[in-house]
Amino acid sequence: MAEILGVGLTHSPSLIAPDELKNYSLTRALRSNDRIPTEQKNPESWPEDMRKEWGDDEGYTSAKIARGKLVDGFRKLRAEIDSFKPDVVLVWGDDQYENFKEDIIPAFCVMAYDEFECQPMAGRDGGQRPNVWDEPANKIFRYKGHESSRYLVTALLEDGFDIAYSYKPLHQEGLGHAFVNTLLYLDYDRKGFDYPVIPFSVNCYGSNIIRNQGGPYTQQINGVDMAMDPPGPSPKRCMELGAATARALQASPWRVALIASSSWSHAFLTPKNWWLYCDVESDMARFEELKAGNYEAWRGISNAQIEDAGQQELLNWMCLAGAMQELDRKPEIVEFLQTYVFNSSKCLALMKP
Ligand SMILES: [Fe+2]
Repeated sequence: MAEILGVGLTHSPSLIAPDELKNYSLTRALRSNDRIPTEQKNPESWPEDMRKEWGDDEGYTSAKIARGKLVDGFRKLRAEIDSFKPDVVLVWGDDQYENFKEDIIPAFCVMAYDEFECQPMAGRDGGQRPNVWDEPANKIFRYKGHESSRYLVTALLEDGFDIAYSYKPLHQEGLGHAFVNTLLYLDYDRKGFDYPVIPFSVNCYGSNIIRNQGGPYTQQINGVDMAMDPPGPSPKRCMELGAATARALQASPWRVALIASSSWSHAFLTPKNWWLYCDVESDMARFEELKAGNYEAWRGISNAQIEDAGQQELLNWMCLAGAMQELDRKPEIVEFLQTYVFNSSKCLALMKP
């Protein structure tokens, strides 16, 4: 019989790289982002909590503490998923100029492949990407698709959502970072992850998806910044899509874990903080709303507010919020990690039947 478990989590790459490399977005920004004025790079000009987190070891101590909390949280989420025994796991995640590029940017896409073959430990040059598991570049992670993806697309189309779907990769072999990192972290202890998966791509990056190619730097043509791209789907639309997904799956024969995968405000998407730290105030406001189960507060947020706060990836959570509002589920916060140094606030949450 159908049942739904709600899960919110992060796919932040910071859990892959060993902490001792100190390869955070902040250290990268300090080293190589020329747009940041020298005085802003000086810790003296940072918020006090940021200086404390940075400490006297460039955030290394804080990074180890953050990892401990997140890994504990991921173990709790995995235990809940295991005891729920899903037939399939659906993941809402962003595509950062990985599978979708200039030839097509779908607002939403259900990736209904038969299976997914990923090589996440291969770096751009094909060599081993430094990783805490010390797994080799050629290690292949395989995940199964599921027949419910076709059912879901059909149900969404019948419900008035002109949803895109695909049966094979376009530009990204296997899965993009939002999806594969989610599966890697839910299997942090490497026991295996055998649940079939429906990756559900959301165009979170909207007006900067081609322009910034999913990263912090605006592309130029003949020395001039590229024009803005059209926006991504609005929070309201994401919530409506989430609600329709919940309705469709409630009427299905399957038990489904619905996962929203993303950190919240991102430093590298927040120009008002010189791309150094995320919009902490805005994240705290969203967190208070989430804790209270006030999903409705998210519906009226505009794309302009989302982009001002660097919360583009929160659109993945908007899909989950719509689903949980439809099912009248209250959230249980497993972890909330507010940070200045490690790019983005991270929330782990459960919405149980
Ligand atoms: Fe992402």
